[in-house]
Amino acid sequence: MAKKKSRKPPVKKKVLVDTDPGIDDALALALLYQSPEAEVAAITSANGNLAAEEGLKNIFRLLGFLGVTEKPLVGVGRDWPVSADDARHIHGVDGLANTYLPVFSRNSAEPAAKLLASIVTATREPVTILAIAPLTNIADMLDRIDVKDANVERIIIMGGAFHVPGNATPVAEFNVYHDPDAARLVMTSGLPVTIVPLDITTSLVFGVRDFDAFSHSKEGAGKLARILLPFYLQAHRRYHKLDGVHLHDVIAAALVVCPEVFTTKRAWCDVETEGEITRGQTVIDDRPFSPKEPNVDVVTGFDAKALKNFILARLSQV
Ligand code: RIB
Ligand code: CA
Repeated sequence: MAKKKSRKPPVKKKVLVDTDPGIDDALALALLYQSPEAEVAAITSANGNLAAEEGLKNIFRLLGFLGVTEKPLVGVGRDWPVSADDARHIHGVDGLANTYLPVFSRNSAEPAAKLLASIVTATREPVTILAIAPLTNIADMLDRIDVKDANVERIIIMGGAFHVPGNATPVAEFNVYHDPDAARLVMTSGLPVTIVPLDITTSLVFGVRDFDAFSHSKEGAGKLARILLPFYLQAHRRYHKLDGVHLHDVIAAALVVCPEVFTTKRAWCDVETEGEITRGQTVIDDRPFSPKEPNVDVVTGFDAKALKNFILARLSQV
């Protein structure tokens, strides 16, 4: 009898997550922890949906709720820009649908930029940075290192809006709008950047029937989805006039663990940092005759059915 082909174990990607948890951030982390293709080596909190210190508390809340035993290194970002608006109206006062989950164990947290810089310059295996928040910490990390010393396979950024309206302003997406100078620095850093823009993340809507996947979940990622999504749905109905939700950061996390369902292309991209009414706008030059040298990869499409089924199955898996 022919020898059964042994399924090779998936290649594990070492992942550093920079996040402002946030409901979609929380489910992105849950997806990574549900996925054998990823090993979360570090999680850093960024100022965005809520203050970095609050985001740090939510990181510990999520690690406890998800029963994570191999604790990642944890870093805390600086609260910058001081005057920026947060997104508590979308994510809840606590950032997690006002669930106020218990904070089980609070390990010490290093300054985010210092932690990220030390990891990327010391790691023997290449790392993937999943940036699902404003890019302040990543820019601060770049200030501390020489890019050629960084063993970074890819920085995946959830951010930007190219041919669709913004969600922070008519032309700017929240993560980029929150710190456009940082976003520009990262996108033009020379590191391998892949952008997952609103063009992509708003083209997949999860509705109440999709939430049925979690209706019997009693623990872990499925239960987290079950307790967070109703609030997130109400916020989308109220502020986005949408009878469903956009799981922006979850889609960016899916690019890490299931890249085969996405298509990307090289393009030139930059960020408006001076515009009186366009600050935070991401500009792409993907014209066929563009004289500009491409500097990033941009996600241009995905197999919607496969991606939605993958996300629902992974998050509800026990
Ligand atoms: O524009 C969507 C992004 O802004 C997501 O990362 C969401 O969590 C918010 O931070
Ligand atoms: Ca986020």
